[in-house]
Amino acid sequence: MTELLTTTEADIKKAAHLLRTGQTVAFGTETVYGLGADATNDDAVSHIYIAKGRPSFNPLISHFPDREQAFKHVIASTLAYKLAEKFWPGPLTLILPRHPQSPISALATAHLPSTAIRVPQGEALHKLLSYAQTPIVAPSANLSGCISPTSADHVWQDLNGKIAAILDTGPCHIGIESTIVDLTSEHPTLLRPGGIALEELQDICPIMQPDTPAPTAAPRAPGQLSSHYAPHLEVRLNATHVYPHEALLAFGTPLRGTDTTINVSPTANLKEAAQNLFTALHFLDIEGKKRKLKTIAVMPFPHHGLGVAINDRLSRAAAPRPKNRQL
Ligand code: TXA
Ligand code: MG
Repeated sequence: MTELLTTTEADIKKAAHLLRTGQTVAFGTETVYGLGADATNDDAVSHIYIAKGRPSFNPLISHFPDREQAFKHVIASTLAYKLAEKFWPGPLTLILPRHPQSPISALATAHLPSTAIRVPQGEALHKLLSYAQTPIVAPSANLSGCISPTSADHVWQDLNGKIAAILDTGPCHIGIESTIVDLTSEHPTLLRPGGIALEELQDICPIMQPDTPAPTAAPRAPGQLSSHYAPHLEVRLNATHVYPHEALLAFGTPLRGTDTTINVSPTANLKEAAQNLFTALHFLDIEGKKRKLKTIAVMPFPHHGLGVAINDRLSRAAAPRPKNRQL
């Protein structure tokens, strides 16, 4: 049975104790809920892969209470310091060469020569990471390939019984995962669009470019498999009308034609839309199934600012699913 914890001092200490003793604990970050474990403990890290059903070639992000702790585990460049200064604590993950003395488990980094580090926002989380006194790896706390969780309830639906505890820190205010930047070469590259837009990164680093992998190449952030974030219902993008038996994920002025609608931002505000995106997909999936609908129709989103990350998540939610996935 998975224990539900709150943000009282006693519960945060309990969560930290569970982490220190090799258990898995989910907690809210500003982006999505993460499933945490001690990054230096092979057994604890392997529990994460098992609970999520995650392929072991997909490395994990290590989380820290502050920059000083984070940079002990990598070889940090001047640009890394600049980005950390501007965006941490916050939704930015930096990939840097691993420090030879770092005790982070090779299982956590999928034996790569690099390590992903992040200092997330949130008072309770800051306490948890400080009390844990060890780097905490945390992928999103959902079953691999499914919709990311933005509330303790979403985590419960996917992982109840598979993890030791969930620290309920309330809903996530950014709502989509961190932006991932690769700083391991002289070409700083955006590997995953997320809570910080490319335009904001380019203010600090004008040469930052999105990753443009060859269509056949293995993804450089191995988690960026094409089908991901997938609800049980089919997803139809760029809808300009709604068919009968469709649910609708609306943005701005909603299309007519269905009662099963969530508008992620009636004022067409991308920040609000990102915050509500996964919650809306979770809700429409459950309601749609109850009402025997087949498809979630999704209205178009502009492709700038946070719209790039929103379109990334939606196109993966709509991608053909692997044949062995039980839907
Ligand atoms: O907002 C977030 O980043 C959330 C919260 C919980 O912090 N975490 C998250 O973790 O989204 P996850 O595991 O769902 O996604 C991490 C991504 C994966 O695509 C993984 O392949 C990539 O980061 N990654 C991790 N380490 C890497 C490395 N050394 N090199 C390249 N990609 C890496
Ligand atoms: Mg994930």
